[in-house]
Amino acid sequence: MRTQVAIIGAGPSGLLLSQLLQLQGVDNVVLERRTGEYVLGRIRAGVLEQGAVDLLHEARVGARLAREGLAHEGFDICVGDRRHRIDLKGLTGGKCVTVYGQTEVTKDLMDARAALGGTVVYEAQDVALHDLGGKAARVTYRRDGKAAEVVCDYVAGCDGFHGVSRGAIPKDLLRNYERVYPFGWLGVLSDTRPVSDELIYVHHERGFALCSMRSMTRSRYYIQCEFDEDLEEWTDDRFWDELRRRLPPDAAAALQAGPAIEKSIAPLRSFVAEPMRYQRLFLAGDAAHIVPPTGAKGLNLAASDIYYLSRALIAHYKENRDDLLDAYSQTALRRVWKAERFSWWMTTLLHRFPDASAFDRRVQEAELDYVTGSVAARTALAENYVGLPY
Ligand code: APR
Ligand code: PHB
Repeated sequence: MRTQVAIIGAGPSGLLLSQLLQLQGVDNVVLERRTGEYVLGRIRAGVLEQGAVDLLHEARVGARLAREGLAHEGFDICVGDRRHRIDLKGLTGGKCVTVYGQTEVTKDLMDARAALGGTVVYEAQDVALHDLGGKAARVTYRRDGKAAEVVCDYVAGCDGFHGVSRGAIPKDLLRNYERVYPFGWLGVLSDTRPVSDELIYVHHERGFALCSMRSMTRSRYYIQCEFDEDLEEWTDDRFWDELRRRLPPDAAAALQAGPAIEKSIAPLRSFVAEPMRYQRLFLAGDAAHIVPPTGAKGLNLAASDIYYLSRALIAHYKENRDDLLDAYSQTALRRVWKAERFSWWMTTLLHRFPDASAFDRRVQEAELDYVTGSVAARTALAENYVGLPY
């Protein structure tokens, strides 16, 4: 098979790139290791910046998002029993975020790829990248036991943190930056009414908690837990009890418990690989960087990478210019690092760190007091939360 751009991975990054390119007449093929059902089974964050929403509209996958997405004009930070509202709209001159699950974004993209007749090869095994520095790159894989090959101008590595693309960059040219946090998030999805109309981020001496939602009838809750905790030991009742203990009394009283329809533990990590380009290969999304979920920047960063990469590839094919492709890694990384900083900061502000000294704890308390008490600090938080410009 010959194509212009081979895209590895059919997560949100790969599917969005594929859709944007096809709409501009750039030929592409997506190779995904798993089945479509498996890809849709992964539950992830659900807060979209306006930039991501705009890009989904540009990709013509915004219709259901516009109908079902919930505009959120603010959220709460709880410290102990005190609730402080972060008025996103007021602090940013009118900006909001949209609550709409990543699963739904992925589903809308899959439907759109199918409707436009895009080539997405699911269950592509043993994907391997070759000749990245040659006249044309090659991607080999196996499907139903048969060997297959895509010859292309460029490869977009959109295959997530555990993908193969990043590994195709020689070790001596790649620099990894990483921080692993000493705790995890235990998440529960349930078909219950959300405890509040807006998200609540809780700093509590028993650990962080987050009340989020997917719709007005589906809640998503998280509590900070040990990173090596046994999921089996977390019965639904134990989860709801622990969450209630961390919430302020009014929220605890209002919390509607119900059976968990999904329950999982996620580790928290910050990670960036530089550069995001090597010869004919471009990395995007989780293949190049990971943020801890506090602040929900993962999908939004994937969207900004794809914004830069799609424009750069379209400029190459339609205007015969390569300046955007040549600048891609630097341009994307500038925004990536600001979101990395913000996600690290919000994680550090709100969690309980088991190894914190008495001094560290006092500084954290002072910072929470400052953020909740100062308009300048809240404005900086709000500006980052709604998303920095592309
Ligand atoms: N060959 C083909 N496909 C692969 C391979 C491989 N060797 N390895 C991984 N993949 C696929 C995965 O199965 C997955 O479907 O690549 C896809 C990567 O998708 P994501 O992990 O969702 O990454 P991305 O599309 O960049 O989305 C970023 O997802 O992890 C969240 O927080 C993150 O919300 C952000 C978003
Ligand atoms: C979620 O709804 O899953 C979610 C929301 C906000 C976050 C993280 C996750 O900061």
